[in-house]
Amino acid sequence: MRILIVGATGPTGQELVRQALDKGYDVKVLARNPDKLNVPQPSEKLKVIHGDVLKLEDVKDALTGCDAILSALGGKPGMFTSCDVYSKSYDVILKAMKEVAVNRFITVTSWGTKDDPDLPYLWRWVFKPSLLRNVVADMVVMEDKLVKEQDINWTVVKPPRLMDNPLTGVAPLTMEGQLVRGLPGKAQIGRPDLAKFMLDCLTTAEWDRKLVAICSRAAAVPPAAAEGNSVDGQDKGEK
Ligand SMILES: NC(=O)c1ccc[n+]([C@@H]2O[C@H](COP(=O)([O-])OP(=O)(O)OC[C@H]3O[C@@H](n4cnc5c(N)ncnc54)[C@H](OP(=O)(O)O)[C@@H]3O)[C@@H](O)[C@H]2O)c1
Repeated sequence: MRILIVGATGPTGQELVRQALDKGYDVKVLARNPDKLNVPQPSEKLKVIHGDVLKLEDVKDALTGCDAILSALGGKPGMFTSCDVYSKSYDVILKAMKEVAVNRFITVTSWGTKDDPDLPYLWRWVFKPSLLRNVVADMVVMEDKLVKEQDINWTVVKPPRLMDNPLTGVAPLTMEGQLVRGLPGKAQIGRPDLAKFMLDCLTTAEWDRKLVAICSRAAAVPPAAAEGNSVDGQDKGEK
């Protein structure tokens, strides 16, 4: 498998690069700040290209010969910080994909880009209307374009709060749409698990042309039950 990763210098992107190399994939990275990339050891399988994801020629050159492109690009939060990195990069990526005949695009946005009464209160009424409003608005622009897209195979992975936990190796909970419903605990997922899920999307058709919300399986355990359980899952008081 040959893949291009953009947003590779962010924390999720770094995980994508590491895990893709561990799988033996040929990995290209297109980055405006390639020095930020932190891979444990040099690899012949990794090609880092200094360039701009918003420039068509840069993306086309990097994408040539790849089977897929994965994006972990992210905008900066802030009430008055504008964000267009999702929609603008998508326009360029789509054009480049069509011109160099690459058909698979896997990207990440967030839970609850569109409203839903089951979303957490803080998300609906605090963060989304304030610090994250411009980031989320731009995610929606990209998602709305993708769902209409007939010519390429895309997947939008929608995580809740991201954590820098180690890789669990446990498959996350998934649900098509804006969120994973019915969770008793707090919704979150580690970036390594998010990256693994994105890479797993390359080898299954399950999430082709879908928005998929994901969440750590730990959120399915009520907090009280989690506290009362020992590591092997048995109640502490059990004989
Ligand atoms: N943080 C959370 O709790 C949370 C929750 C749900 C979803 N998400 C989303 O999950 C994704 C991954 O998040 P993350 O925290 O791992 O990464 P992040 O810090 O949001 O992503 C930063 C990456 O995007 C690149 N980037 C930003 N603007 C760019 C531009 N104009 N041109 C080129 N590259 C640009 C950065 O490049 P440079 O290194 O060159 O700046 C870096 O590689 C993001 O889309 C984020 O919004 C985050």
